Amino acid sequence: MLTAVLVGCGRMSRAWLDAVRNLEGLRLVGLVDIDVIQAEGRARDYGLSDAAVGADLAAILAATKPDIVFDVAVPQARRQVVETAFAHGCHVLTEKPMAIDRDDARAILLAANRSGRLHGVVQNRRYLAAVRRIRRFLDSGALGRPTSLHCDFFLAPHFGGFREAIDHVLLIDMAIHTFDVARYIIDGTPKSVFCAEWEPVNSWYKSGSSAAAIFRMEGGAIFNYRGSWCAAGLKTSWESSWRIVCERGALTWDGFDGLVAERITDRRDGLLDLTEMIEVPALDPRDRIGGHLGIIEEFVDAIRTGREPETHGSDNIKSLAMVFAAIESANSGRRVAVEI
Ligand SMILES: NC(=O)c1ccc[n+]([C@@H]2O[C@H](COP(=O)([O-])OP(=O)(O)OC[C@H]3O[C@@H](n4cnc5c(N)ncnc54)[C@H](O)[C@@H]3O)[C@@H](O)[C@H]2O)c1
Repeated sequence: MLTAVLVGCGRMSRAWLDAVRNLEGLRLVGLVDIDVIQAEGRARDYGLSDAAVGADLAAILAATKPDIVFDVAVPQARRQVVETAFAHGCHVLTEKPMAIDRDDARAILLAANRSGRLHGVVQNRRYLAAVRRIRRFLDSGALGRPTSLHCDFFLAPHFGGFREAIDHVLLIDMAIHTFDVARYIIDGTPKSVFCAEWEPVNSWYKSGSSAAAIFRMEGGAIFNYRGSWCAAGLKTSWESSWRIVCERGALTWDGFDGLVAERITDRRDGLLDLTEMIEVPALDPRDRIGGHLGIIEEFVDAIRTGREPETHGSDNIKSLAMVFAAIESANSGRRVAVEI
């Protein structure tokens, strides 16, 4: 039986607690939040009467000696929470973003390396069936190589809390998911980015609710992201709406269940190649899916089998580097290299 302490008992902690209660061989022994009333509330709601509850992470770790820390705190607390967890010899599965800036990201990776414990990041969009199917389909070569990816993300949530108080909120707190998926589905390395951020006149955010970023990937493909968290009406999916253009056809995903692909035939009608629909194969049984539960299960399995989880920190920093480069570009008005 592995034991875990969960830190950060806000809105997202419910998804974690719902997942953890379906996991055999894992017991939650502690709940921590600087707002202890939040932690007590979650303990009550989830029947965790035996769990230690408090505001002081170090004290709860010293008392409970868990194998794992689940970090669901706000991004600004990430480094402090993760370093404390590693200092207590715990494996850490942390929410995205892995860090709030480059310095913190490097410090967290160093702490992970020194501790010799596993460090995973919840980049749960990879654990969506459609994302796994797209990756396999592109890998099969059915449409040839991807030459450009285009992504639209337009929603208008009123979260309150930390999101309305931080800078570059869309890039740091949401676009990281889409950037990570883009990097994953074309198995590509981002080289440079040009990005602009803007604040609509009706914005209720401090800064960076809206951004457009064009990445150039190694090999020449373009990843074109357009997003806003301050765009009411005609909303897209939380997973974005995608068009992937390839050498011999294209694929669209509406971010829900609509996955459609067309490839060119050897016939023409006037100027245009005639196209035909092509089925995107169903999920392969080996594909890891299941959102938060899937990613937590994989992390626990990685601990048990002594391997690295798919979204380990030293890989995830490549997605985070896309965010930091986009921010640098938005600040400077120049194209910027994507560097870790
Ligand atoms: N993977 C996803 O799909 C997904 C979705 C939503 C949120 N998130 C991430 O989850 C994290 C939490 O988001 P949320 O929506 O629950 O935010 P939230 O503001 O609702 O909750 C965060 C909690 O962290 C607590 N906290 C702050 N500093 C702390 C510290 N030093 N120690 C312990 N607790 C501390 C706060 O008191 C609060 O209860 C963020 O990193 C967010 O980006 C991920």
